[in-house]
Amino acid sequence: MKAVYQHQTVDILVKEGILSRLLEHLDPHRRYFIITDQIVHHFYHDYLDQIQNHDVFIMMSGEEQKNMDSILQICKEMLTKNYDRSDCIIALGGGVVIDTAGFVASIYKRGIDYINIPTSLMAQVDSSIGGKVGINYLGYKNQLGSFYHPLKILIDPLVLSTLNKQEMTSGMCEVMKYAILFDCDMYDALLHHQYQLMELIRKCVLYKVEVTTTDERDVGKRQLLNFGHTIGHAIEAKYQLPHGISIAYGMYYESRRQDVLDLLLSYGLDFSISFDGLEEYILKDKKRIKDQIMQVKILDIGKAILVEGDIHDYFTE
Ligand SMILES: NC(=O)c1ccc[n+]([C@@H]2O[C@H](COP(=O)([O-])OP(=O)(O)OC[C@H]3O[C@@H](n4cnc5c(N)ncnc54)[C@H](O)[C@@H]3O)[C@@H](O)[C@H]2O)c1
Repeated sequence: MKAVYQHQTVDILVKEGILSRLLEHLDPHRRYFIITDQIVHHFYHDYLDQIQNHDVFIMMSGEEQKNMDSILQICKEMLTKNYDRSDCIIALGGGVVIDTAGFVASIYKRGIDYINIPTSLMAQVDSSIGGKVGINYLGYKNQLGSFYHPLKILIDPLVLSTLNKQEMTSGMCEVMKYAILFDCDMYDALLHHQYQLMELIRKCVLYKVEVTTTDERDVGKRQLLNFGHTIGHAIEAKYQLPHGISIAYGMYYESRRQDVLDLLLSYGLDFSISFDGLEEYILKDKKRIKDQIMQVKILDIGKAILVEGDIHDYFTE
């Protein structure tokens, strides 16, 4: 599949076994700087040996690594090893690696090519597509960043076999978001736990491509994908829960719909924790312009619209 954006056409491949035949998808004459994290490296470092001319930068795992220190360390390593604009970064990992590596690619020597190889379900259905790259700053989510698309996105569902249960659930929450927003058949399949993972990934990728190519700069339809994110990002920052799970809580608290709650409960989400004290984080939402923020309203499962509202609505309701 090709996703056509204003300044970049992105090749996207969803196929089992990509990682074990990585060379088929790379240019043998290029030098690659691979950015990954400790856990992903532990499971998949053998596959990297296929690439002749490469270096590997291993980040610690975890959301707290999505910061300026990581960016500077990576840039320093690339400069020391004389990477130039003809070289290419490979981001091999979950959303944290993908967002961080993409941000480096967007600023290193004013921008170099990069390839995304997402290894978490979250990154396969969401973070790797659409060109939003960036880091957290001063304890708030995604405050520094840019739009910068990869050359390619290589999605190998086989790597999900090593993902732990909590991270798999986190990715499924993002899948549920697409179902609630766009697809009542997908909602039913998810509610009854009757689906094929490969098919779900393909469908989510198609939705993400369709929305982000129509509205690349997040000024219209793409904002629907922010469903659950205002409260979700606040929960993620304050309570350090996995991204998808935080967004799932946000989807319920932003919509207060029983059908949304039913779906989330069926995947074991626990709604007993208190979400007091989120105000400070909600007010730091980067989508806020003065007191106004675009809110997503679910009219019915599969039917969502954008409504402009006051950011204070979130915690005064
Ligand atoms: N740029 C975007 O459009 C976008 C969209 C959605 C989310 N995000 C960002 O993505 C991040 C969340 O992504 P995530 O949930 O992938 O988090 P993550 O990158 O922290 O990965 C979750 C955990 O799974 C591990 N992991 C990844 N792949 C694995 C595999 N195949 N086997 C075993 N372990 C594996 C990682 O080491 C990590 O410990 C957040 O920072 C969020 O803001 C960005």
